[in-house]
Parts: sequence; structure tokens; C-alpha cells
Amino acid sequence: MQQPAEPKESHPTAGVDERHQQLLRRFMVLQEDERRQVARDLHEGAGQMLTSLLFGIKMLDGVASLDEVQRFLPELKSQVWETLETLRQLSVNLRPSLLEDLGLVSTLRSYVRDFGSRQQIEVFFTVEGDEVRLDPMSEITVFRIVQEALINAGKYSRATQVTVAMTFSGGVLTIRMEDNGIGRDPRILTEGPHGAPLGIWGMQERAAFLGGTCRIETAPSRGFSVHLSLPLR
Ligand SMILES: Nc1ncnc2c1ncn2[C@@H]1O[C@H](COP(=O)(O)OP(=O)(O)O)[C@@H](O)[C@H]1O
Ligand SMILES: [Mg+2]
Repeated sequence: MQQPAEPKESHPTAGVDERHQQLLRRFMVLQEDERRQVARDLHEGAGQMLTSLLFGIKMLDGVASLDEVQRFLPELKSQVWETLETLRQLSVNLRPSLLEDLGLVSTLRSYVRDFGSRQQIEVFFTVEGDEVRLDPMSEITVFRIVQEALINAGKYSRATQVTVAMTFSGGVLTIRMEDNGIGRDPRILTEGPHGAPLGIWGMQERAAFLGGTCRIETAPSRGFSVHLSLPLR
């Protein structure tokens, strides 16, 4: 008499749980990395500006006349403006409030413009095809990928020009982010704690969460380009 075959896994759900655990761990690493960045921006950006504002205000203690106070005022005012602007940027970086109302195209257009003027890099932003709205979670995820690519371009590329080209076509969204900077040896792309450096790994993980891919091309003095491609469901 034939016995029913033993299932290979004693707990059919064990594999699924493990996969969930793994996803969760990877997600937590991404999130912690983001928090570390926000903490640093808060401390080094807004924190330092407020400290220097405090010094400015303390100086007022020592001055004798109203005239002198008035001399300090424009500088203090501009420090307050700068701090506000830094906080505004931090808040956009944390959560672009335009995203849900205006969608990816408008949000990225304004983000890219801001980036260009802050970094003094010439930016080109193009869109082909008609925008298809994604669900909010997917839109913020795409935003994070573009954000990482641009922050990297600002930090490492020494580029004079950056292009962000979006295409909605045939049920697929592609975004090409390219700079004309110094590039890198492509071997660095496979060196890192997760098989790639953390930021690049994060872009690829995020693309994978959306069922897409994120491919990188670079070579010394050939610039750096990030190609994101995802299904529009
Ligand atoms: N646009 C770029 N131009 C030149 N090098 C880049 C660019 N983007 C990334 N890199 C290189 O790839 C490395 C890995 O990037 P990333 O994973 O985002 O790590 P990091 O935490 O250093 O930003 C960077 O340290 C940098 O050397
Ligand atoms: Mg990075």
C-alpha cells in the first residue's frame, strides 16, 4: 500500500514566515538609514543655524544703543530666514506634502528645480507620455529613489548637468537619472554590506518592492546613471 508522500517542509508556512521576516528586516534597515540621515540634517543643519542665531542674539546684550541693535537686525533676520528654509527643505525631504495632491510629475519637477538651484547644477526634467497616478505608497517610494539618486549626484558627481527623464509608456514607468560627472568604477556597485553600498541597495530594494528594477551604469569620467523601471498597475 502506498503511503501519501511526506511533505518536504513540516510546516508549510515556515518559508513564508521566513521571507516575511527577511523583508521586514530589510525594511527596517532602510528606515533606520533614513532616520540617521534626518537626525544628521537636523543636527548639522537647523541645529547649527539656531546656535549661530543664539550667538547673534547674545551679542545684542552687550550693545549700548538702539542704533547698534538696528545694525545687527538684518543679519539676524537673514539667519532666521535661512533656518526656516533649511527646515522647509527638511520637511520636503521627509515627506513631500505636494505628492498626494499633485502627483509624482509635479512633485519631482519642483524637487528637481530646487535641487538644481541649491547645488548650482543645470537640471533637465522631461516627461513623455501621460502621467498615470500610482497608489500613495508607490509614489512616495519612487520619490525616495529619485531623491537618493539626486542626493548622490550632489554629493559625489561633481557634475555640471543632471537629467531626470520620466516616461509613461506601455504600462511601464521609466525614470532615467543621469549626470555628466566623474562617475565611479562599477566594481563599487557590488561592494557593500548587502552586496551593494547602502544607498544604492536601498534604491534597488525599493524598486523591487514595486515589482520593478533599478539598474546603474557608471564608469570613471563617464558620469553616473540610474535607470528605474516599474510596472504601472
Ligand atoms: N552620481 C554619482 N557620481 C559619482 N559617484 C557616485 C554617484 N552616486 C553614487 N556614487 C558612488 O557610489 C557610492 C555608493 O552610493 P550610496 O550607496 O548612495 O552610498 P552613500 O551612503 O555613500 O551615499 C558613493 O559613495 C559614491 O562613491
Ligand atoms: Mg547615497
